[in-house]
Amino acid sequence: MTDQVVVTDDAAVRVIRMNRPEKKNALTQPMYVAMTAALREAAASEAIRCVMIAGGPNAFSAGADIAEFLESAQSGGLRPKTVEFLHALARNQKPLVAAVGGLAVGIGTTMLLHCDYVVASADATFATPFSRLGLIPEAGSSLLAPMRMGHARAFSLLVMGRPLSAQAAKEAGLVNEVVDPAAVVDIARKAAQDIAALPPGAIAVSRRLLRGELDDVVKRIDTETMLFRERLQSDEARAAFTAFLGRRK
Ligand code: COA
Repeated sequence: MTDQVVVTDDAAVRVIRMNRPEKKNALTQPMYVAMTAALREAAASEAIRCVMIAGGPNAFSAGADIAEFLESAQSGGLRPKTVEFLHALARNQKPLVAAVGGLAVGIGTTMLLHCDYVVASADATFATPFSRLGLIPEAGSSLLAPMRMGHARAFSLLVMGRPLSAQAAKEAGLVNEVVDPAAVVDIARKAAQDIAALPPGAIAVSRRLLRGELDDVVKRIDTETMLFRERLQSDEARAAFTAFLGRRK
């Protein structure tokens, strides 16, 4: 088990906190394993009625770990634990709240498309620099983002890699509330507690109706995964990873 993901249960709310501050919560395979297990356990537990995902005050997550991208590019592009996490996220049964402080990059942004209520700090930034890395959108975002924010905004974010401020993310429908940075976790926790206090049967059915056909989302995740794997091994991607890992600050 990794200590880079901390899971705590606070009455009916499970909190999954990414905890790798020295790397801005860049996500590694062991972190995906821990997050997948935490989601699956929550789904199986009657006591847990809502799950909250959080990061640190300055970084929700800097996205997938680029050193791991380079390693997996060299070994055929497989990232099995990422794919398991994405499936668990897409098929997750419990309402999901996110507390986003600071940076949300790559999968740090796209995982929010699977959340039901997102609280962001006023200084949060949402960015998906896939193209610059020679990559393509993942986590079902090529399907979910255009549905959520329209093609124009999804293209600017996912393909051009132009970041969204917290306010723009709210206007785009990715974020529910923009709050003072010091209050993000408390306000997200309150939203999670409010959801947990509602009748769980009604919440579960309503959520299923609102989320639509999950098989389509999972199918898109699988298509993206296949194409992402090819892109990981491209010269464009390898050059971008090597440049990031070799940069001087
Ligand atoms: N993968 C691996 N390491 C990462 C990382 C990532 N996605 N994001 C940040 N880190 C590491 C940095 O290399 C640095 O490590 P070091 O201290 O050992 O040199 C540490 O985390 C802190 O990051 P730093 O770049 O110094 O912080 P910053 O505030 O100046 O910039 C970011 C933060 C997120 C803007 C910048 O780190 C970045 O662009 N990261 C890559 C994001 C990305 O492209 N993710 C993949 C999307 S698909």
